[in-house]
Amino acid sequence: MTDHPASTNSSASIGDVAETARRDTAPPTAAIAPAVAMVAEDLDAVEIKLAELLQSSIAVIPQVGGHLTFAGGKRLRPMLSLLCARASGYVADHRVTVAAVGELLHTATLLHDDVIDRGEWRRGRPAARLPYGNGMAVLTGDYCLARGLLAVADIGELAAVRSMAETVTRMAEGEIAQLHSAGDWRLEEATYYMVIERKTAALLAWCSSVAGLPAHVAPELFEYGLELGFAFQIADDVLDYAGGEALGKASGQDLREGKATLPLILAAEDDRELRTTLRTLLEGGPPADDELVADIRRRVLASDGLEQALNRARVHADNAASKLAVLAPSRAKTALEALTQYVVERSY
Ligand code: IPE
Ligand code: IPE
Ligand code: MG
Ligand code: MG
Repeated sequence: MTDHPASTNSSASIGDVAETARRDTAPPTAAIAPAVAMVAEDLDAVEIKLAELLQSSIAVIPQVGGHLTFAGGKRLRPMLSLLCARASGYVADHRVTVAAVGELLHTATLLHDDVIDRGEWRRGRPAARLPYGNGMAVLTGDYCLARGLLAVADIGELAAVRSMAETVTRMAEGEIAQLHSAGDWRLEEATYYMVIERKTAALLAWCSSVAGLPAHVAPELFEYGLELGFAFQIADDVLDYAGGEALGKASGQDLREGKATLPLILAAEDDRELRTTLRTLLEGGPPADDELVADIRRRVLASDGLEQALNRARVHADNAASKLAVLAPSRAKTALEALTQYVVERSY
C-alpha cells in the first residue's frame, strides 16, 4: 500500500539523514525567504501569468491545471530564472513570462510523472490524475507544454524557442529512459545520471540561462543549473526514502516503481543480500511485493547510502556555487548562493 503523506513516519534509525530532513520545521518557505523576498513582486506577477497561461475556452483545462498549479509548490524554477536574470544585470519585460513558462513546463512534467509513477499525492493534495483521470492529466500536461512554447514564441526570440524545445526533448528522453530501465537490477550509476540530467537538470539549466543573458554569463549559468539539477534530484531521491510529512507526496514511491535511485545504488554496493532481494523484487515485476519493498527500504535506511548520496548532492551544489563566480557581487547573487545550499538541505 502507498504511504499516505500524513501517515509517513521517518524511522529514527536513519540518524543524520532523517535529522537533516527534520531540521527545517519552520514554515516551508522560511529557508528560502531572502531569495523569495528579492523577487517577490515578480513572483506575484508569475502567479498571475500562470493563471493566464492556463486559461482556455475549454473550461476543464484551467480546472485540472489549477488543481496542481495552485496547490503550493516551491516555485524554484521561476525563482531561478528571475534571480539569474537579475544577478546578470538583465531585466527584460518578458522575464515574468519566461519565469512562468519554466513553472508551466514543470507542471506538465508533474502531471505526466504522476500518471507514469502512479503517484497519489502531490503538494499535499491527491494527484490530479485521481479526481480527473489519467487521460485528463496527460492531455492537460500536453496543453501546458504547448501553451508554454506559444508564450515563448510570442516573445519573438528564436533562440529561446529553440532552447525550450531542446529542453522539452531532453526531459521526454529522461522520463522515457527511466521508464525503460525501471526494473533493471544492475544499478548502474551512469544510467542514473543520464536520466536525472535529462529529466530534471535540463529544465533547471534552461531556467537559469534562458533568453538574453550576456554572452559570457549564459553558458556558466547553464552549467550552474545543470549542477543544481543533479543536487536537487539526488536530494529528492534521498527524501523519497527519508522524507517526512512536509514532502506533500508519498515516500517510498521510487522503489515501488522499480526505480534504482542513487541512495539504493550506493547502499547496494556493500550489501550483497540487498542486491539479491532487489533482484527478486524486480524480476517479480509489478505489482511490487510489499514485504520485499519494506525489507529493501529498511536496509537502505540502515545503510550509509542516504548519507553518501547527500554528500554527492552537496558536491554538486558546491560545483553549482562555483559557477556563480562569473557574476559580479550583488544581493541577487547572494540569494542564489543561499538557494543553492537550500536545495540539499530542504525537507520538502
Ligand atoms: C519535484 O519538483 C519533481 C522533481 C524534479 C524532483 P519540486 O520539488 O520542485 O516540486 P514542487 O514544485 O515544489 O511541488
Ligand atoms: C522527477 O522525478 C520527475 C520529473 C522531472 C518530472 P520523480 O518521479 O522523483 O519526482 P517526484 O518525486 O514524483 O516529484
Ligand atoms: Mg514521480
Ligand atoms: Mg522523487
